[in-house]
Amino acid sequence: MRVFSGIRASGDKTLGNYSGGFRQYVATQDEAAADGGEAFFCVVDLHSITTPIEPAVLRESTLSVAAWLFAFGLDQQRSTVFVQSQVVAHAEAAWLLGAVSSFGELRRMTQFKEKSEGQEFVSAALFNYPVLMAGDILLYQADVVPIGDDQRQHLELSRTIAERFNLRYGETFVVPRGAYPREGARIRNLQEPDRLMSTSRGAPQGVVRLVDSPDIIRRKFKTAVTDSGREIVHDPEAKPGISNLIEILAVASGESIADIEARYEDHGYGQFKQDVGEAVVELLAPYQQRYAELRADDAELRRMLAVGAQKAATAAQPTLDRMYERMGFAR
Ligand code: TYM
Repeated sequence: MRVFSGIRASGDKTLGNYSGGFRQYVATQDEAAADGGEAFFCVVDLHSITTPIEPAVLRESTLSVAAWLFAFGLDQQRSTVFVQSQVVAHAEAAWLLGAVSSFGELRRMTQFKEKSEGQEFVSAALFNYPVLMAGDILLYQADVVPIGDDQRQHLELSRTIAERFNLRYGETFVVPRGAYPREGARIRNLQEPDRLMSTSRGAPQGVVRLVDSPDIIRRKFKTAVTDSGREIVHDPEAKPGISNLIEILAVASGESIADIEARYEDHGYGQFKQDVGEAVVELLAPYQQRYAELRADDAELRRMLAVGAQKAATAAQPTLDRMYERMGFAR
C-alpha cells in the first residue's frame, strides 16, 4: 500500500484540517507501515501561490505546516515528509499532465469557481491547480489518498487524468482512491454550518485554529450557532449546527455518533456546547505543546525536510522518466 497526501502551506490550519487531514495521515502512516508499504506527506507550497500570498508568509507557513505534520505524529522513520517545491518532479509532472487534462474539466471544479468568484485577479495557476495535484499523487504511484470531502472532486479528476494517460500512452499510473473519514469529513464553520470550516472564507469566530488558546476555543464553541428544537441528534439536513458539533465531539473523543446521542439525550444545548469545547481543548493541548517544541528549532526542522525531499525525489523520478519516455520526448 502506497499512501500520498498533501496539505497547503497557507493560512492557519484548522480543526477541519485535523479531521480530514492530520489525523488521517497518522492513521494511514500506521496502516502503510503494518502492510510493508510506504507513505508520503507533502507540504504543497506550489499550490499556495495560486492565490495571492506574501513571500514572507509563504516561507513561514511552510515551516509551520511541516511542524504540525510532525507534531501530530508523522514519523520520519516511517513516512517521507517533504516540501513540494524541493522536489522538481512535481512542477514537471504538472506540465506534462496538462496535456491530458481538459479545459472543460478544470472549468467545472467547484473550488475554482468558489475561489475565483468576485476576484479581480484570477491566476492561471488557480485554474491549473487540480493538474498539479494529480501529478503529486500519480508521481508516487499512490493507491490511497487520505483527504477530506472538499477534495473529493479533485481526487476524482486525478483518477480521470491517470486513466486517460494510461489509455493514451500505456499503463503508467496506479489509479488512486480517496480515503475519507467516517465522521468529520466536512467540518463546518461554527457560525455558518452551511459552510466548510476554512480560514479563507466564512466568519472567523466560527473557525477553530490549531493555534487557538484554550480560552479562545471555549469561547468559539460557547457562541456556536445551534438549531431550533432541543434534541441533540445527528441530522445534517434539519440540524446542521448540532450535527457538526456531534461530529466534532466524535472526532475529538473517539466516541460514536450513536453513543454521543444517547449520552446527551437529557441534556440541553448549553452544556453540550461546553463539553464539545472542552473535548477540543483537551485534544489539541498535547499537540500544541509538541508544535511549540518543534518550532523552537527551525534548523532541525529544515534538516528533516531536506532528508524527506531527497527520499521523495528518488521515489518520484522513475515515474517522471517513464512519463517523458512514453510521451515521446527525445532525452
Ligand atoms: P488543504 O491544504 O486545503 O487541506 C488539507 C486537508 O484538510 C482537509 N480539510 C478538511 N477536512 C474536513 N473538514 C474541513 N473543514 C476541512 N478543511 C480542509 C482537506 O480535505 C485536505 O485533505 N488540494 C489540497 C492539497 C493537495 C493534495 C494533493 C491533497 C495538493 N496536492 C495531493 C491530497 C493529494 C488542499 O488544498 O488541501
